Amino acid sequence: MRIVIVGHVDHGKSTLVGRLLNDSGSLPEGRVDAIRAMSERRGMPFEWSFVMDALKAERDQGITIDSAQIWFKSALRDYVIIDAPGHKEFLKNMITGAAAAEAAVLVIDAAEGVREQSRRHGYLLHLLGLRQIAVVVNKMDLVGYDQARYDAVVAEYTDYLDGIGVTATHFVPVAAREGGNIVDRATGTMPWYGGPTVLEALDGFVPSPALDDRPLRLPVQDVYKFDERRIIVGRIESGRLAVGDTIMVSPANKTVRVRTIEHWGKGVPPVAAGTGRSVGITFDEQIFIERGDVISHAENPPVETDVFRARLFWLGRTPLTVGAGYLMKLATRQVRVTVDRIEKVIDAGSLAGADQGDRHQAVERNAVAEVVLRSRGLLALDEFRDLPNTGRFVLIEDYDTVGGGIISMDGYPDQRSAVTRKSTNITAVEHRVTAEARARRNGHTGGVLWLTGLSGAGKSTLAIELEQRLFAKGYQVFVLDGDNVRHGLNANLGFSPEDRTENIRRVGEVAALFAEAGFLVLTAFISPYRADRERARAAAGAGFHEVHVRADLDVCEGRDPKGLYAKARRGEIRDFTGIDAPYEPPAAPELVVDTGRLSIEEAVQSVMDYIERRFTITR
Ligand code: ADX
Repeated sequence: MRIVIVGHVDHGKSTLVGRLLNDSGSLPEGRVDAIRAMSERRGMPFEWSFVMDALKAERDQGITIDSAQIWFKSALRDYVIIDAPGHKEFLKNMITGAAAAEAAVLVIDAAEGVREQSRRHGYLLHLLGLRQIAVVVNKMDLVGYDQARYDAVVAEYTDYLDGIGVTATHFVPVAAREGGNIVDRATGTMPWYGGPTVLEALDGFVPSPALDDRPLRLPVQDVYKFDERRIIVGRIESGRLAVGDTIMVSPANKTVRVRTIEHWGKGVPPVAAGTGRSVGITFDEQIFIERGDVISHAENPPVETDVFRARLFWLGRTPLTVGAGYLMKLATRQVRVTVDRIEKVIDAGSLAGADQGDRHQAVERNAVAEVVLRSRGLLALDEFRDLPNTGRFVLIEDYDTVGGGIISMDGYPDQRSAVTRKSTNITAVEHRVTAEARARRNGHTGGVLWLTGLSGAGKSTLAIELEQRLFAKGYQVFVLDGDNVRHGLNANLGFSPEDRTENIRRVGEVAALFAEAGFLVLTAFISPYRADRERARAAAGAGFHEVHVRADLDVCEGRDPKGLYAKARRGEIRDFTGIDAPYEPPAAPELVVDTGRLSIEEAVQSVMDYIERRFTITR
């Protein structure tokens, strides 16, 4: 099992490792004595950290390796401890996949408590998406093995980790220098502690399943034409593939069956292949497939999206900027992406910035950043924490690699179900009442005014007021409102990214039907995702008008008509738009209504004017 160890040098990281190696009996005979003797010769008191330094010095000779790796054994299994001499190299290695850890040990100092450095180290674990973490509260001897002190550090650090979405698996009070609770239980000094020792905590971590046992991902490298057959070639990045399997081709979202796995030379053709194998396969039917597509099993496909979060390491000579475009290589796909937002920038050396969450405009060379990237069409990808090989990418500019990143979908939906059609053998019927006939009778054409904006921006207020005034003027008008529709049609949907996407998909279709029936439909939904609104636009066609009901977050939060922002701030509601769920403002709305500046009357009037210009009553 690969474990990364982070923490400030002064907090006793090396001492802990030295102790762990010694107390677990992992050091060769006489090793400690030799180091002890050498320290004496140099007139220095012996330190356990010398053990780690000595091992590192040995390993580093002649090998250029950015992060030192140290091996040791417990009764249960072998361990590799990855130590990061500098955060920069370490982060680069972790993000680009040169080093990968399954769990982490984070060392903090009981005497010092939670300082800026400890917070930054915690953030490092968040950045890498590690989920098995033992927080070692060291130097308990310096605080008199005081349980109250330990509890206070645990409470404070838990609070911080919660804030960045990291959960520590264990906290262990330790005296590394004296050797308490590392391998041997400190019953004498810390009888109040009943949890695991450091070694027990490590042994309790669950190894990541082997790639072979994970979902199939076969990125298409090439398609060869042989006589009538088309052979699809690629390397299996995870999972296994067998003849007869029903597979999904993404992002096209098409299923076919594997007819053969080709082989060269003599012998029986293979019927199955696993991770790491390069294969050529044929399908039972001809579908369009090209380099960059991803083959998976139908039941466990990759995410489909045109927007995702990335934690990236930037190496470019010129800074990465909002709005800039780069060529992204993800498995065998090469596609242009643009930078939608830069949410956080961290100096990779000092980890400065980890404790701030401000928006940024640029990322300098050698910095780590949390960004949102967007592509034009749907991409097939995975979250790094699920499948590292298809959850990692590099960015290219002018033939140079300028960055590497790992993908997370936090706050963004998998759009696959929104583009999946399950029904077959269906034939549309023709209406005999035309749109023109309806418009003539109603005196106006049908259409959709799609109001989008934060909760509390004024969408419902506007829509309801407009409905009343328009009706009075003779319009066939109806409001579809988020809170209302969620009582009925969409009662089975919550606020997860996928549920919101489905909410908007249904409402978009319903609005399009109303518009086709001749109505002027006003919709009032947050509709936070751009892709969802684009699908609603596509459903309604030319009569669709996107209206951005705009007010800054602090304005909406100040209004808080339903008290929901307050609840979200208190942590009682999760995934609340604007607080811990994203809102993507429209890029090119037909109309912007700035309710932060306008009075309700002015806002209503501006939409009224817009409607009357476009949906005139002609009777
Ligand atoms: S949408 O994101 O799927 O478009 P919708 O407009 O239907 O949302 O519903 C938003 C309304 O649901 C808000 O005005 C608010 O009253 C309520 N609501 C409850 N939970 C949430 C949440 N987590 N995020 C946003 N709105 C919420």
